[in-house]
Amino acid sequence: MSVLRFGRVLPDRPSPLSGPDWRQADPRWMARALEASQRLPHGGWYVLDASDRITSTPRAFRILGEEYVAFRDGEGVVVGPDTCPHMGARMSDGHCKDGMVVCPWHGLALGRSRRGSWRPLPVHDDGILTWLRLDTTTTAPTAEPYLPTRPTGPTLSAVMRLEGACDAEDIVANRLDPWHGVHFHPHSFGTLKVVDKTDTDITVRVAYKVAGPLAVEVDALFHCPDPHSIVMTIVDGEGTGSVVETHATPIETEGRSAVVEATLATSERPGFAFAATWLSRLVRPVVEARAARLWVEDLAYAERRRALRLRGREDSIPLDTKAG
Ligand code: FES
Ligand SMILES: [Fe+2]
Repeated sequence: MSVLRFGRVLPDRPSPLSGPDWRQADPRWMARALEASQRLPHGGWYVLDASDRITSTPRAFRILGEEYVAFRDGEGVVVGPDTCPHMGARMSDGHCKDGMVVCPWHGLALGRSRRGSWRPLPVHDDGILTWLRLDTTTTAPTAEPYLPTRPTGPTLSAVMRLEGACDAEDIVANRLDPWHGVHFHPHSFGTLKVVDKTDTDITVRVAYKVAGPLAVEVDALFHCPDPHSIVMTIVDGEGTGSVVETHATPIETEGRSAVVEATLATSERPGFAFAATWLSRLVRPVVEARAARLWVEDLAYAERRRALRLRGREDSIPLDTKAG
């Protein structure tokens, strides 16, 4: 379906690639770019969820097969093991009182101090997302996660979280394949062509459908700041400087992961600052619903990718994309 472009018109930019999308979408490039991302340090940090979804109501999280409880006290977010040090009750079934989580079985209150096996873990709240640091990983722990560059002007933020039967690398791999966009998500993407590609990063010119056939054209750079994250930054066109951060958090050591995606939109257009401030409550659910719609489909992709990997099909490419 054709698209009706509106907004800033971008100067023509040739693509270094040619041929149909299936031939441009080289699985070997994707595999190498993914491999490079998996060697990056991550400092032990994993995204839990949007910061404003961690409140004074205790909430359970599971990362790499371990259970945690997260809640907010007067100072910020507290995360500890979701097992009461007294007799093992689930602390996330309790409630918060005076900035402490209270065990539902016998009332033990736990907070920022150690108590037996209760040990609050390092947490980083970047204002949009809350991260947890697990020091059992092979990477050297860092004081903060490797945050990508975010917009500095007025920003409208939205965060969605979904879970799927895949590994974190399958979620990153999905985003390292921008070529599927037009084919797999025709409701959201009108046209897409690669305009730059390095060993690890890729820039695409994409017509993103805002409503029906109405689309804005932008140049978007994809890069991985750590092994569990891939970031899309608009480098030219409407909303330059806006980012979409996709973070994958392994729920189990294998076969189940959460995708947490933060959209941080900015624009120099008059009225955007007003919209970002006063209309965010209206716009945010729309942005989150659109991101979730894409991720329902992309999780199916990621799950399929994992299933193929388990069947030993990862290096078996049925069609040689380099052939004439
Ligand atoms: S199990 Fe938590 S106080 Fe007893
Ligand atoms: Fe996709």
